[in-house]
Amino acid sequence: MSKPKILVARAVFPETIARLSQHFDVESNQADETWSKAELARRLADKVGAFTTGSDRIDAEVLAAAPHLKICANMAVGYNNFDVPAMTARGVLATNTPDVLTETTADFGFALLMATARRMTESEHYLRAGKWTKWSYDMFAGSDIHGATLGILGMGRIGQGIAKRGAHGFGMNVIYHNRSRLSAELETECKARYVSKEELLKTADHLVLVLPYSAASHHTIGAAELAQMKPTATLVNIARGGIVDDAALAAALKNQQIAAAGLDVFEGEPSVHPDLLTVPNVVLTPHIASSSVPTRLAMANLAADNLIAYLTTNKPITPLNPEVLAA
Ligand code: DGY
Repeated sequence: MSKPKILVARAVFPETIARLSQHFDVESNQADETWSKAELARRLADKVGAFTTGSDRIDAEVLAAAPHLKICANMAVGYNNFDVPAMTARGVLATNTPDVLTETTADFGFALLMATARRMTESEHYLRAGKWTKWSYDMFAGSDIHGATLGILGMGRIGQGIAKRGAHGFGMNVIYHNRSRLSAELETECKARYVSKEELLKTADHLVLVLPYSAASHHTIGAAELAQMKPTATLVNIARGGIVDDAALAAALKNQQIAAAGLDVFEGEPSVHPDLLTVPNVVLTPHIASSSVPTRLAMANLAADNLIAYLTTNKPITPLNPEVLAA
């Protein structure tokens, strides 16, 4: 009997392809070519499953070209590349990779915060350029992490991981804002106090963004919000591009309206707003917050497990639209 056909839309670990090949007839993109939306749709025409990443847009137009498609398994916890209502309407299951990346991503958020507040990349560039000729009392003087007020916008699992690192590891005063308030138990565990968005912006020494992207969270941080922050504040975005208005942020950094920013995600990435590339007080990384070898492997395995479980037993592990199962 022939195996069901699936598409792996981006390059992944060879062992993931090998595992999937035990169950499916796999068309993969191990060359990691950049496919247009039309190309992705064309390749999905005869597939029942797709292994996708955040750069593969699945919407009504793509679904219309993929009449046999039953599941798209995203190798990411974020799924703003999926039009979930359109997938549900078509009876296509969506899955993501929650939990397996929480601690690694929280580690990275904290590392980016520290690199930003202590001006690590800016000072490294200075050293590499051969400009370090003597010690000076205020050389790359940054702001402190320990004892400072850590603001977190978006208090899901990753936000909670960052809160715990700040409160328990660095004695930070943690405040947060979220669509819904945490239970009293979780607030105690994270040593975090719920505040309004306005108080968060005004009082945080370091503000970390960890909220999901949606039309509602587009430009949550723009010129008006940046104007409310302390001139000594740092801003860290490990959530999604588009949550910050990058042009407004570049202007705020240039005018020293805030002290510094650490960015792992960008509007329109992999393009980066040109002004962000010229201001010195920003640490830039290419969307790697979840990228440790064990975590990326765990994410790939979970996405593969979702495909295998759903297409062989009808029981996906982390469904985003379980109503498809009931239907
Ligand atoms: C996620 O899992 O959403 C990350 O941003 C992808 O690395």
